[in-house]
Amino acid sequence: MEATQHQLAIFASGTGSNARKIIEYFKGHPTIHVSLVISNKPDAPVLTMAQSHRIETQVITRKSFYESEAILDTLRENKIDLVILAGFLWLVPGYLIRAFQRRIINIHPALLPRYGGKGMYGHHVHQAVWEAHEPESGITIHYANEHYDEGDIIFQVKCVLEPEDTPEDIARKVLELEHYYFARVIEKVLGE
Ligand code: GRF
Repeated sequence: MEATQHQLAIFASGTGSNARKIIEYFKGHPTIHVSLVISNKPDAPVLTMAQSHRIETQVITRKSFYESEAILDTLRENKIDLVILAGFLWLVPGYLIRAFQRRIINIHPALLPRYGGKGMYGHHVHQAVWEAHEPESGITIHYANEHYDEGDIIFQVKCVLEPEDTPEDIARKVLELEHYYFARVIEKVLGE
């Protein structure tokens, strides 16, 4: 019997270092393929990075994302069965959540349910963790729902913080975890 093939779409708004790690991890994978990278920012570095790997890219506008369901056609045309949010800053609209129930996965750079929610992204998260003198931080990989950072948790891992760590140190430790685990957890979710 032929193994099931999985096509991933990665949504990202920025640098795309997680997207790059995922693309590299699945390069040549027998069953998991990154087929599409979508960004809400026309000049996002993630788009040029994806193109250098010959992966199709698309830019979405706020209007098309929230006022039409055109993205569903794009995802279906590319036979996407899992959507990965890797630093994607827009809230996923209800129609997309419903069409991809438990097939949209987000990564958050802290230990949810703490340090999540609207406005808690990027540097803001690490700054808040630092201000609270937390002894640890970490990553959360979870299913996306219609609220920021609230879907069911799939995986968490912690890192130890030292009293002298700056917010930048925290960001570096957390990103290292993201880069190592995100692709591996995706692989596990797909049962491959
Ligand atoms: C990551 O920390 C991710 O958890 C967050 O945004 C950051 C994206 O970084 N949601 P990059 O664009 O993958 O480098």
